[in-house]
Amino acid sequence: MSARLSESELALIEAALAEDIGEADWTTRWTISGEARGSARIVARADGVIAGTRPAEGVFRRLDPEVRLDWRRVDGEGVQAGSVVAELRGRLHAILTAERTALNFLGRLSGVATLTSRYVRAVEGTSCRVVDTRKTTPGWRRLEKEAVASGGGQNHRSGLYDMVLLKENHLRHAGGVGPALDRVSEPARAAGLEVEVEVTDLAELEAALERPPGARPDRILLDNMTAEMLREAVRAVRGIDPPVPLLEASGGVTLESVGSIADTGVDLHLEHASPHTRKAGMSARRISRWAGRTEAELRRRWDRPDVYLFGKVGSTNDQASKLAEESAPAGTIVIGREQTGGRGRAGRIWHSPPNVGVYLSMVFRPGELENPGLLPVMAGLGVVRALDLAFSGLGPALKWPNDIYAGERKCGGILAEASWSEGAPRQVIVGVGINAKPLPSSVPAAVRSAATSLEDEIGRPVDLAEVADAIVNGIEAFLGEPTSALDHSALELLDHYDWLRDRRVSVLVDGAESATTGVAVGIAPDGALLFRPDRGALRRVENAVVVPETASSRKASR
Ligand code: BTN
Repeated sequence: MSARLSESELALIEAALAEDIGEADWTTRWTISGEARGSARIVARADGVIAGTRPAEGVFRRLDPEVRLDWRRVDGEGVQAGSVVAELRGRLHAILTAERTALNFLGRLSGVATLTSRYVRAVEGTSCRVVDTRKTTPGWRRLEKEAVASGGGQNHRSGLYDMVLLKENHLRHAGGVGPALDRVSEPARAAGLEVEVEVTDLAELEAALERPPGARPDRILLDNMTAEMLREAVRAVRGIDPPVPLLEASGGVTLESVGSIADTGVDLHLEHASPHTRKAGMSARRISRWAGRTEAELRRRWDRPDVYLFGKVGSTNDQASKLAEESAPAGTIVIGREQTGGRGRAGRIWHSPPNVGVYLSMVFRPGELENPGLLPVMAGLGVVRALDLAFSGLGPALKWPNDIYAGERKCGGILAEASWSEGAPRQVIVGVGINAKPLPSSVPAAVRSAATSLEDEIGRPVDLAEVADAIVNGIEAFLGEPTSALDHSALELLDHYDWLRDRRVSVLVDGAESATTGVAVGIAPDGALLFRPDRGALRRVENAVVVPETASSRKASR
C-alpha cells in the first residue's frame, strides 16, 4: 500500500466505511456479481488544489487490497475542473461501495487545501505566512493540517502538548499577561516548548514586551485587532531587542481583508481549516433590490426564468451551482452585491467589494458539448462586444481565454465551471466579474495596480445595472446556443478584439515545469490559443497561463 496511514487514520477510515455501509451495500450486492471487475476515474468538479489522496486510497484498499490506483495528481498539485485526478481498476463491489467515503476524504481535504491556497495567494508579495489553528474537525486534525500544508500554508501547534499558548482564560486566572508569562517561562524553557501569548489590545502587548528577556514570549498572537492596531503592534515590536520572532494575527481574517492585514507585517492564522465549516456558517441572504431593480424586474427585462439577488455571498458561481443542482433551469442568473470568496481562473481570488463591480453567474445546460473549452472564449467575446457597444471610449478587448482588458489593464474576467457526469457536462456555470467602479483600498495594492475599472477608463459614473445589461445580452448573443466552433462572424470579431494578437508572451502550459516565450498569433475556431514559440513551429495551446512579456521580463530572460 502506498498510502501510509497511522493507526488512528485507519480507525477513522474504518468508522467512516462502517457508518456508510452498515450491514451491507445492498444495492451493489444485488445488482452486480461479486466477481465483476471494472475501472473508474476520479474527475475534479472544480478548479482547486488536491489533498487527501492518502486516506482516499486507504478507503479503496480497505475494501480491495489489490485495487490498482494511478494518481494523476499528488497532494499539493493544482487541478482544473474536468481534469482526471486518478484512475482505478479493481473489484467493482469494492469500487462502488468505497467511492462515496473515499471522495468525502478527497473532496473535504482538497477543499481545505484550495481555500488555504487562496489565502496564500492573497498574501503573495508580503512577508506574511498563513498558519493554521486547532479548529479542526474532531479526529481529522492530522489530515486537515496536512491539507493546509498542501495548500501552501504552515502548521501551527499540533495540540495542547507541543506549545504553550496563553489565552484570555489563562490570563484572567493567572492575574494578567505579566504574571502568566512569569509562571510559564521557566517550565516551558525546561521542557523545550515555545511560549505564545494572545493579546487583545496594545496595553496587553506592552505588558508582554515589558517582561525581562527570559520571560518574554516567543510569539505574540494579536487577536481581533484592526489593521491600524496591527500596524502599531508591528511598530512596537520592531523597537524591542532581542526582537519577538513572530507576530501573528487572528480573528476577522477573510479573503477580502487578508491583503490589508498582511500589508501590516504580521503572520496570519487561518481560522477555518475546513471550507465546510465556512459554508455552514455562511448563509447567503437574498436582497429585495440590486442597483435599484427587483428580481421580478430583472427577470422580465432579461427574459430569464429566474434571477436571484444576494447581499453577501461566498461566490455567485457556488450559489448558481447549488441552485442548478437543485434543478434551477438553464438561464437562471445569480447576482451578489459582494463576494467573500470570489474566485478567478487558476485558483486566483476575485476581489469583490460591495457595489464596486458586477458579480454575476448564469446556469447553462449545454448537453453533449464537443468542445467545452470554447465556452469561456465565446462568453468573453460576447461580453467584450456588448461592453464596446454600451460604453463608448472603453475600447475593451479579450485576452485569451477569458480576461477582459481595457487599455493595458484588466477590468473583468470570466470563470466557466462545469460539473461532469459520465464525460458530459451536467451543467456549466458561467461567472462574470466586471469592475464598474475603482477598486477601494481594501483590495491589495498589487491587485489594484494591475487592474482598472469602467469608470477609471471612461471618466463618467457607471451604473451597475447598465453593466449587468451588457453582460447578460453579450452572453446570450454567443452562448444562447453554444456551438462546437466559432463561426465566421465570431472569428471576424476576434480580429478586432483579440488583445494578445501579435504580442510577445510567455506561456505556462498546465502541468509544464517552465514557461515558453514566443508570439501569440491568434485564436483558433475551437477556442485554442495559436502560439508561435521562439524555437519550434506554430502550436495550439489549450490550458495555460499566458503572460505578456514586458520590457523588464525580456531583459531578465536574456
Ligand atoms: C478570472 O479573471 O480569472 C475570472 C474572474 C471571474 C469572476 C467572477 S465574479 C462572478 C463569478 N463568481 C466567482 O466567484 N467568480 C466569477
